[in-house]
Amino acid sequence: MECVVQGIIETQHVEALEILLQGICGVHRDRLRVHEICLKNNPNLGNVASEVRLLCDLELPEPTWTVKHLGGAMRGAGAEQISVLVRSMVESKVSKNALRLFNALGYKLDHELLRVGFAFHFQRGAQITVTVSSVNKMLKLHATDEAVPVTPGIQLVEVTAPASSENYTEVASAVSSFCEYLAPLLHLSKPGVSTGVVPTAAAAAVSLMSDDFPRTQPE
Ligand SMILES: *[C@@H]1O[C@H](CO)[C@@H](O)[C@H](O)[C@H]1NC(C)=O
Repeated sequence: MECVVQGIIETQHVEALEILLQGICGVHRDRLRVHEICLKNNPNLGNVASEVRLLCDLELPEPTWTVKHLGGAMRGAGAEQISVLVRSMVESKVSKNALRLFNALGYKLDHELLRVGFAFHFQRGAQITVTVSSVNKMLKLHATDEAVPVTPGIQLVEVTAPASSENYTEVASAVSSFCEYLAPLLHLSKPGVSTGVVPTAAAAAVSLMSDDFPRTQPE
């Protein structure tokens, strides 16, 4: 399982977010350029609809593919109360001919995306991953060089942490308290709950950027 929250930020404030994240986690960012192929199978008799994503990080020296299946959100009173979505998630490395395999199994291309940005991985009460990326669509099949933004000027921020049925409350509260640090720049909530951009973002970005200013100036 994993705990997840999402939000959006205007591209002009992404640099300030990066400075903030760098300050909080004390690690360097990893660049990200992920080709994502979303596949769906045709539900027919005795077969439920399902969706898998094939992901390839094009930033790695040797492109490796991963298959990811996102399950439904956890339900019940406990899940309603927390501000973080808890869902099942299965991820596995696959060989580069996985697309052919899934096609043979009856999965068809639904859409494909290219996510370009960066990620921070760190430990803060849970193994937290923050990704900040622009989401692009391809004009031609698999043409990652000719991708155009889906929402120009807006980037997607996602915070995830691995969890289990034993520790999800602990992980969810670690994720929530981490999100409070980012509150001046962006609002994070369960995926599907749209919250828009934060009105304080511009002012917060200015102050973050000016705090950083002396370090980038030659002495
Ligand atoms: C919660 O459980 C998951 C899955 O076993 C594990 O990866 C993660 O590190 C655990 N997190 C904490 C904070 O114990």
